[in-house]
Amino acid sequence: MARAGLMACIRGHVERIGWSAMLAMLPLLSACSLKFPANTFVAHSDLTRAIQGLYWEVIGWTTAILILVCALVFLILFKYSTRPGPEKKPPPEEFESLTLEIAWIAGPALVLLLIAIPSIRLVFASQQVAPPPDALIVEITGHQWWWEATYPQYGIHTANEFHLPVGRPVRFVLTSADVIHSFWMPQLGAKRDVVPGHTNQITFTPTETGEDFGECAEFCGTSHANMRFRVFVDTKVGFDNWATNMASAARPAVGGRVRAGQNIFATSACTPCHTIRGFSAGKIAPDLTHFATRTTLAGGSFANTPSNVAKWITNPEAMKPGAQMPALGLRGPELTDLVAYLESLK
Ligand code: CUA
Repeated sequence: MARAGLMACIRGHVERIGWSAMLAMLPLLSACSLKFPANTFVAHSDLTRAIQGLYWEVIGWTTAILILVCALVFLILFKYSTRPGPEKKPPPEEFESLTLEIAWIAGPALVLLLIAIPSIRLVFASQQVAPPPDALIVEITGHQWWWEATYPQYGIHTANEFHLPVGRPVRFVLTSADVIHSFWMPQLGAKRDVVPGHTNQITFTPTETGEDFGECAEFCGTSHANMRFRVFVDTKVGFDNWATNMASAARPAVGGRVRAGQNIFATSACTPCHTIRGFSAGKIAPDLTHFATRTTLAGGSFANTPSNVAKWITNPEAMKPGAQMPALGLRGPELTDLVAYLESLK
């Protein structure tokens, strides 16, 4: 009777702990929503799809093992916990079975082999030495804290927002100008270290049009968290239009305020750092030739709106701690004219 009471008490505790743990974990489920841009369960490229295939394969094997082990544990618990009749003498402490030993070495070895073969195959497939013949090449350089991009086949130079055509293989060639970064596109193409003095690559084919989120995934200093980027996968026509525009020189300034803004840009400390093609040739900060075509600014962290651009020019440090851009001390009409000029650079 006392034993039955003890068992009921233990069962009660286990149930309470179980329910509390499940309730405590409920908020975690919100992280499974498919609409979060860093959700790796959404595949927008052949590479992500292959990685997910491997993931589900491993989950399948490990779930089968979990079910087998749990079934054995419960079977033994219920079958051997109590036995009617007089107490038998305990089993011998030493017991040998060659068959059992072979089974518990061969079983796990087989499972490991079944996981290792597709894993190794995928590692090699994701590290193609030569790009596919028709691949789009995008050269990326990581900076503290923004991403520079060059499309050598198109003469395009831009920052933080990269366009790709759907269905065409792309090779990102990655290096860094300062410290180690990591180029991560959760739904497009896994993650690669971006190392100074060394090039890494990611090759994949985007399979869906739309906007994809990316960010630096290796701590690289004060504004590591503000080192984001966007990848826009366009239709072929959409990409060609974008590329033609991006390869052209900056639009000439039209209108009083825009022209006044252009003059302010020309005489400010902007020109030694920023390129506006056909106008200035600074190389250490993002190319601004088609700045207004970008949806974000300051390492992809803020929406590209006139008020954010004005805030950024007034006090970059407040928006991106550690930012290397100096505050230019522009105010009033000078500031609004410069913003109007930058926002005219389509
Ligand atoms: Cu670059 Cu973190």
